[in-house]
Amino acid sequence: MAAMGTWSFSQPAVEKMRSMILDGQNATDVVERAAADVENDVETGRHIVGRGGFPNSRGIVECDAAIMEGVPGRFGAVAALRGVGQPCRVARRVMDRSPHSLLVGEGAEAFAQEQGFTIETNDSMLSSHTLTAYQEFLENGQHASGHDTIGLIALDLSGNITVGVSTSGAPFKAPGRVGDSPLPGSGLYADHTVGAAAATGDGDKIMCYCPSFHVVQLMRQGSSPQEACTSVLTDIRKRIGKEKCFQIGLIALNMKGEVGAASSVEFPYTFWNQGMDSVEKRVISY
Ligand code: GLY
Repeated sequence: MAAMGTWSFSQPAVEKMRSMILDGQNATDVVERAAADVENDVETGRHIVGRGGFPNSRGIVECDAAIMEGVPGRFGAVAALRGVGQPCRVARRVMDRSPHSLLVGEGAEAFAQEQGFTIETNDSMLSSHTLTAYQEFLENGQHASGHDTIGLIALDLSGNITVGVSTSGAPFKAPGRVGDSPLPGSGLYADHTVGAAAATGDGDKIMCYCPSFHVVQLMRQGSSPQEACTSVLTDIRKRIGKEKCFQIGLIALNMKGEVGAASSVEFPYTFWNQGMDSVEKRVISY
């Protein structure tokens, strides 16, 4: 049993995951529900997730989210989805109820509506914080920085592993821009024989390296989660030059409940496993 999340703001989600896992709940329900709380909280929107997230260059909030189980072929994602405060829930429905794996834009919205989700106005997706930031962007062309995707991994009592990610994407992005988060292998990857990984950071760059798949492949070959995350980051840095490295954070969890993380920037992450009394935070500093 174990749970893990990206950034400090994942702490309440990982606490919730811990109690749901101890309660015997399934890893996918655990990830979906914990992600939904973060996505729907207007305050955590400032971390570039769900409701209250930063809008695109036309002032519209467009979210990307995905969920992947360790079982082969179990993946669902949405991209550039408007008007839904809990996009990871829609991604789960794509996985469970659609013949497809990734739905985008209007198609994702229509699917969400068919599945009973209320499509909200853009105003209800914005917060006063992101609205102010958007006004500044319009006036000064000033870009908010950061790409704080929530990434959550759960390993349940029965040994199922699931990873989920959710983001409103790069602040003031071009309409229709999709980042790494909903792309399997880039934003997330899971394999029930090995473990799972998730990425956060600059999705336009991250997607060029499939780092989540790479981390899981290294764990398959015998690396610990920590060794795998460090190797993938080192490989990217070697290829592009340490000084030029973009913002990327990686988390990984294996089937023994061991965790690892690596990052090109200061990167807090939170985790718990069956050997621990409570959720802990660790910070990778650079
Ligand atoms: N990693 C989130 C994004 O760039 O969209």
